[in-house]
Amino acid sequence: MAHDVHRDRRMETRTSYLGFSLPHPFIAGASPFGHRLDTVKKLEDAGCAAIVLHSLFEEQITAAAAGHIHHRNILEAESAEVVAQFPDATEYPMSPDDYVEHVYRVKRAVSIPVVGSLNGASAEAWLKFARVIEEAGADALELNLYGLVTSFSASSAAVEGQIASLVRELKALLRIPVAVKLSPYFTAFASLARQLDAAGADGLVLFNRFYQPDIDIKTMELSPLVDLATSTELRLRLRWLAVLYGRVRPSLVVTGGVVTPDDGIKAILAGADAVQLVSGLLRHGPAHVQQMLAGLERWMAWHKFETLDDVRGRVSHAHHSDAEMAERAGYIRTLQSWGR
Ligand SMILES: Cc1cc2nc3c(=O)[nH]c(=O)nc-3n(C[C@H](O)[C@H](O)[C@H](O)COP(=O)(O)O)c2cc1C
Repeated sequence: MAHDVHRDRRMETRTSYLGFSLPHPFIAGASPFGHRLDTVKKLEDAGCAAIVLHSLFEEQITAAAAGHIHHRNILEAESAEVVAQFPDATEYPMSPDDYVEHVYRVKRAVSIPVVGSLNGASAEAWLKFARVIEEAGADALELNLYGLVTSFSASSAAVEGQIASLVRELKALLRIPVAVKLSPYFTAFASLARQLDAAGADGLVLFNRFYQPDIDIKTMELSPLVDLATSTELRLRLRWLAVLYGRVRPSLVVTGGVVTPDDGIKAILAGADAVQLVSGLLRHGPAHVQQMLAGLERWMAWHKFETLDDVRGRVSHAHHSDAEMAERAGYIRTLQSWGR
């Protein structure tokens, strides 16, 4: 209901993401809100412009379909140590089949675009499951390529080539748009973005948060933590949005560190087409999306901006002929400003 009201009233915040025309840029990123129909409905009722469901993992799909996780048979004794590190099938919120059913139900329950999410790292048979998610009615797919390359022999060019071919393969399977959620830890991220553009990616989701485990010095074991994001994480995203804006075809969406209305405005100024919220919604509840939108509208009115297109990318490298030089100059200036 609230959703329809601001759709009519706030046309100036309209944006396009993955080819969908959205009344405003704030969408719900992948999170536990996606687990249940009622919480997904709450996101729509609160006014989220689209929703990304939680991920279905490569490991879940291969374990259910072929009885293996990363080529290790889950029933064999010699695989037990590796397999035991992964959650048991019952620990995931839903099985692959249930996920498909869930997508189908969610699509019938809400009218905003619904983005399914696959989370994996290899271009193997599991990817075909994307077709099933598409057939269940997902409007788009987000592919979360979460992987830490610890190999001492894989070159960065080879790793990037694998990522691009995975995206190419997925695009060949699907008709719906594909957004790729990536980590920022690449030597030449702009070149990777170009490769993904050439591979057909429709959106780039910047960036995955790495859940870096801490060390518990009492037990001398790793202590994995899911801590919610703060605005300081946004800076890295702002930098890369600013570099990519206007230089690649895929839509740019930010995830990570957009917590306050000011954060949302900064992301759009840097070049974001859409803004994903997770920590903000988990902390303050789905209605937080209204604070984000009201803040953006107030700011646009203050600056007399009529459309979001007038705002997007205003603080990006699109206006610099040499982004590398601008970054280097900014770095030196920042160091020199200490103590002034
Ligand atoms: C509890 C929790 C669960 C999440 N589950 C997923 C998931 O299933 N798939 C995914 O791609 N990202 C997942 N994420 C990451 C978020 O989508 C998002 O990228 C990250 O939290 C950064 O955004 P934020 O600063 O708005 O929180 C999860 C994050 C949290 C906190």
